[in-house]
Formats: sequence, C-alpha cells, structure tokens
Amino acid sequence: MNIAILGGTGKEGAGLGARWALVGHSIIIGSRDPERAKTKAAELRERTSKMAIMGESNAEAAKLGEVIVIALPASGLATTLPEVREGCRGKVVISTVVPLTFGGPRLYTPPAAGSAAEEAQALLPDANVVAAFHHIAADELSETDHAIECDLLLCGADAAAKETASQLGRSMGLRPIDVGPLSNAGPLEGITAVLTTVNRRYKLKNSGFKITGL
Ligand SMILES: NC(=O)c1ccc[n+]([C@@H]2O[C@H](COP(=O)([O-])OP(=O)(O)OC[C@H]3O[C@@H](n4cnc5c(N)ncnc54)[C@H](OP(=O)(O)O)[C@@H]3O)[C@@H](O)[C@H]2O)c1
Repeated sequence: MNIAILGGTGKEGAGLGARWALVGHSIIIGSRDPERAKTKAAELRERTSKMAIMGESNAEAAKLGEVIVIALPASGLATTLPEVREGCRGKVVISTVVPLTFGGPRLYTPPAAGSAAEEAQALLPDANVVAAFHHIAADELSETDHAIECDLLLCGADAAAKETASQLGRSMGLRPIDVGPLSNAGPLEGITAVLTTVNRRYKLKNSGFKITGL
C-alpha cells in the first residue's frame, strides 16, 4: 500500500514509515519543506536497505498516498489539514496525534472538538478518520530489530477504514483492537499522557499498553 505520512520527518512518523517500508509498503514522507522530506526519505532508505520511501510536501504526499497518516503536533492541524483536504478526499486518514502540553497544570490538553482525531475529522470532512497508533512509542518503532509488544487500539466511524488501519497494524506485528466510535478518541489519546508519565516515573522510553482477557 502507498502510505503518506504528514509530518513524517518527526520521530513518530519516521518510525512508522521505517516499520511499514520494511514489510513492503511504499512510503511518502510529507513535510512543510519538500527538501527536508527528501533528506529524511534518503536517511530512511539507508536504514531500511533501500526500501521504497520518497519525500514530498505534505500536500503532494496526501495526493499520492492511498492512506494518509497524520504524525503532526496538535498545534499543526489547523494550518496543515486545510492544505491537504483535496488529497485526502474519500481516503482513510489515520490520526496518531496526541495533544500534550508539557510544563503546564494538565498534560493531556484536548481541543474543543474533544480530541485531536475529531478536530482532524472536522477539518477533513470528506475523509474517513481513524484514531490509532498513539500508544506505539517512537523509540519502540525505531528499534526495528525487535517486535513491538503493545496492542493497537483504534476507533473511528467507518468499519472499512478501521479494517484498513488494522491491516496496517497487523503488517507490523501489532494486534488491532477496535474500541468503537471516533468519540472514544479522547480517552485513547489520553492514555498516552499516562504512558508518558509512566516513562518519566520509571525512567523508560517505550512503555506500552495491552488489553487482557481477549
Ligand atoms: N514521539 C512519540 O513517541 C509519539 C508517540 C505516539 C504519538 N505521537 C504523536 O505523533 C505526533 C508526531 O510526534 P513527533 O514526536 O514525531 O512530533 P514532532 O517531531 O514534534 O513533529 C513531527 C513533524 O511535524 C512537523 N511540524 C512541527 N510543528 C509543526 C507545525 N506547527 N505545523 C505543521 N507541521 C509541524 C515537523 O515536520 P516539518 O518541519 O518537516 O514540516 C515535524 O518533524 C504528535 O502528535 C505526537 O503526539 C508521538
């Protein structure tokens, strides 16, 4: 599958891109600066023994991708998503975005829409947004020599879009778990605030999350 990763120059997007490239997907790294995207793509090609990874502007990447992954900070949604709306029309868009504010009274700081994924859906009304991959730490993704133990919790309005996100998770060895409608994206994103706190408290980089009893 052709996967465009908006903000793919960052740690989370690059880690996802490397994992997917290694199992045979084609990756388009998106950036505000196409040159930065091309440089990151070249670096990832080296890391993945020359798998299919290219770099483009976010808008061009969205046009080229069959599936679009948003790996931007929450503060970048309102400016970036209107630019990619046309390219995302009718496609599955996966939001990995977690609105965290460091140094304030509250770590998880969702937007007025309730969650970053719901904000993304409002900005991309012609796309099928799925919230997923929030609990897979960038450090865990980048250590491509071992499997990731964490479950893939995901939610969204469209069953087929959730199945596409599930397939992408399975392709990198994750167990997908459907946690219902997009209105559950807030709690999903909030778990990352808990994991971030666990990482700090226990001096970890990659705590994860697994559902028992399934
Ligand atoms: N890091 C993790 O372990 C982790 C885990 C789970 C979920 N997430 C979520 O995944 C998303 C990406 O995480 P990250 O750590 O990779 O983030 P990041 O490095 O802060 O940002 C990713 C990329 O977004 C672009 N960007 C930065 N500020 C922007 C702005 N104001 N407007 C538009 N684009 C902007 C930059 O690319 P260009 O400058 O090239 O455009 C940057 O390389 C975040 O929402 C984060 O909460 C991260």
